[in-house]
Amino acid sequence: MSEKKEQFGSSFGFRMAAVGSAVGLGNLWGFPYKMGKSGGFIFLIMYIVLAILIGYVIMVGELSLGRKSGSGVLNTYKSIGKKYWPLGWMAFLSPMFIMTFYSVLGGYCLRYTIANIGDMFGGSIGTGGLDSPAFFSAFTSNMFSASAYTIVFMLITVAIIMGGVSGGIEKFTKVAMPALFVMLVIVIIRSLTLPGASAGLAFMFKPSLEPLETLGFFKILATAGGQMFFSLSLGMGIMLTYGAYLPKKESIEQKTIQIIIADTVIAIMAGLAIMPAVFAMGLEPAGGPGLLFVTLQAVFNGMGAIGPLFGFLFYLLVFIAALTSSISIFEVGVSVCLDFVRGRNKEVSRKKVSVILGLVLTLFSLLVAIDGLGTNGLYKPFGFIWLEFFDLLSEGIMMPLGALCMSVLIGWKLGEDYIRKEVTIEGNRWTTAKFSMVCYKFIAPLGMILVLYGQLQAFGIIG
Ligand code: PHE
Repeated sequence: MSEKKEQFGSSFGFRMAAVGSAVGLGNLWGFPYKMGKSGGFIFLIMYIVLAILIGYVIMVGELSLGRKSGSGVLNTYKSIGKKYWPLGWMAFLSPMFIMTFYSVLGGYCLRYTIANIGDMFGGSIGTGGLDSPAFFSAFTSNMFSASAYTIVFMLITVAIIMGGVSGGIEKFTKVAMPALFVMLVIVIIRSLTLPGASAGLAFMFKPSLEPLETLGFFKILATAGGQMFFSLSLGMGIMLTYGAYLPKKESIEQKTIQIIIADTVIAIMAGLAIMPAVFAMGLEPAGGPGLLFVTLQAVFNGMGAIGPLFGFLFYLLVFIAALTSSISIFEVGVSVCLDFVRGRNKEVSRKKVSVILGLVLTLFSLLVAIDGLGTNGLYKPFGFIWLEFFDLLSEGIMMPLGALCMSVLIGWKLGEDYIRKEVTIEGNRWTTAKFSMVCYKFIAPLGMILVLYGQLQAFGIIG
């Protein structure tokens, strides 16, 4: 109990950690593709409006509740009222389920980074002359290597987490995020200067009303909402947990605005890095893992001798983005476990807790890795491949439900003063109080119901 509460050491450090959490696979493969498929500018505008009306208030809410309680997500909700324990459990379990497949995908990124180094120097760890789809299926369906890379990714995550909040998370993200930004700019320059790049820009940005007819307004809105939530790391206990480490002098309102702007800008930049290159090579963008691995590796293969260098740079960038997200996901679990041990007045060692949690999560991750995206004939829970199953539980159900409940809780139960006390501590301002309360009460809950509906539909649970 007596040990000093952990905190971020600087404003910049918190910003990098939070933006590091937000910027991840969601920005790099989700956003550009979904924007292109869902009407370009229409999607972008919906995304921004939803980020302002819903994302903004949910993030302020999460950071405030987290900082007020100063503990992990289970205790945060328990401290508000005993009966809110299900909210705490959703905020805890949802990121744990995400971790099971995020680590596998992170492992894929690592494999691709190394494969491109191999191709640069002609070693046996390269793509071995296989074309892109063949390399992808050979690697993902190889239980041994997919598992090995997953374990390595998990080990790196745990190693950073073991260093603590300021000595691990902050120290790493302070270097990693600026580096990621520089790499992204280099890749964008290459991508935009390829002949035929403009078709990619048209795919992403051209305003088209057609998706409104083919997909429908609500479908696009739900897609934009789901994407916004995942991309901003909301509804999964992340900002609740990081909020607990945010010093009281920091302005929650200002930080939230900075995180949202940075995440959105990087999502658009990711599109500028990816889509022009895909079209310049005469390829069609796919969705999900297909885009990030199959299509993009084909792009690098098509670039000639310089291809592996850009491939290396790009996958390293994606790997870092995945890593700074995965440490935030993992930290939710660590902080809950640390609270638990402290609550029983036992000695706490962050290192020990990290290792044990890492082992448990690795076991679940291996299920996803061995499943090889459903190619290895493993049992399919409810007909889903394991990655989709864990994604359904977290992103599909608990994320929107948790955020919906939190919004209603703040809007209708805790009220304006409760949040104001935390946000305006040490002279900080909450300029948007009135607007925010309207959002908590009406707009965010409605939006979250729509997102929940959209998610269940996307997973084929409802028609
Ligand atoms: N926001 C991250 C991304 O865009 C993913 C993430 C989700 C991180 C949930 C933390 C929690 O990929």
